[in-house]
Amino acid sequence: MSENQTSRIPGFYKLPPHERLAFIARQAGLTAEEQARLAGALGLERADQMIENVVGVLSLPLGIATNFIVNGRAVLVPMVIEEPSVVAGASLAAKLARAGGGFVASSDDPVMIGQLQIVDCPDPWVARVDLLAASEELLALASEVDPVLRCLGGGARGLAARVLEHTPTGPMLIVHLHYDVRDAMGANAVNTACERLAPLLERITGGRVFLRILSNLADRRLARARVVIPESELAFGNYTGADVAQGIERAWAFASVDPYRAATHNNGIMNGVDAVVLATGNDWRAIEAGAHAYAARDGRYTSLSTWRRDGQGNLAGALELPLALGIVGGATRVQPVAGVALKLLGVQTAQELAEIVVSVGLAQNLAALRALATEGIQHGHMRLHARQVAIAAGATFVSDPS
Ligand code: MEV
Repeated sequence: MSENQTSRIPGFYKLPPHERLAFIARQAGLTAEEQARLAGALGLERADQMIENVVGVLSLPLGIATNFIVNGRAVLVPMVIEEPSVVAGASLAAKLARAGGGFVASSDDPVMIGQLQIVDCPDPWVARVDLLAASEELLALASEVDPVLRCLGGGARGLAARVLEHTPTGPMLIVHLHYDVRDAMGANAVNTACERLAPLLERITGGRVFLRILSNLADRRLARARVVIPESELAFGNYTGADVAQGIERAWAFASVDPYRAATHNNGIMNGVDAVVLATGNDWRAIEAGAHAYAARDGRYTSLSTWRRDGQGNLAGALELPLALGIVGGATRVQPVAGVALKLLGVQTAQELAEIVVSVGLAQNLAALRALATEGIQHGHMRLHARQVAIAAGATFVSDPS
């Protein structure tokens, strides 16, 4: 979207799908071909280029979450998901967030971690020191792997090494290669660089390099968002703003100490995160793995977000998680919808995408906690669920009945 466009579209949900599409096409300047890509299914031929043994495709709805402001910019958010209420929930939460200026997000440089497992070292501690002493040579070699990436400012950034003394198969030396992958997700560049380093590492350490693969716990590539909402904005029905804010804070407190609740709480966050990750053709399993590993980084699984009242009449929320997202290469190029989704989002870098995605995760979390802390999740959910049941039984709807 361009700068002076809006994500606030009252009554958007009441329009039939083709009018919604026409509206966002005007807003985002989508060509007729791009509109056709959004509305059309992935063909068998294209699917066959993506994976093996293709015999069909599975389509999912793509909806637009409205009302988002991220770092002062209005954003229309494409979300791909099968679950009712998610797009509506994100849009509602983003509307609440507008009262406090929207979401403020930031992200680390796109530095991925590649792991090399070195076994059978005569002395892993000595090997560790020797390889760190050879860092410069190793990093130069790793950077040579991808000249295009290097031209764009990416490449190897650093090395770390740990001895894991007590494993079920004995001691091993683990090397981490930190690699800036710029606007790519980075799996290919990092895995190739790790494989390239292996022979030299074997010479230096006297051991045998075994696994060479990126880590999904991309904790050098974190994205974070925060939001401040005046409590008065949270009032609805018979609930005062203070009631709702206190309820959300209590719901978060529960998730912060109880892994059973934290798993569901984080599921609510990932509903938003995954839907945008999918729409943009990114690897949602990698994102899921990274998020949950990060949620357990202190040895106990906990909430990825925090929600606190600030004592000055506001509710403040924050979310941080690893987001290894690309806007070039991989499925972002092959999947026909992904390019259009990126155009709708108006992002120029992978970091900008990550900043929107973490904001959507925080919004989704707010929507779920607001519902849970007040009228319960089933109230809105069951209305939409009833529609799915009716459709399964043969009914058709010409427009959104909500
Ligand atoms: C359902 O997909 C997600 C929720 O269960 C999240 C939560 O409990 O916070 C509503």
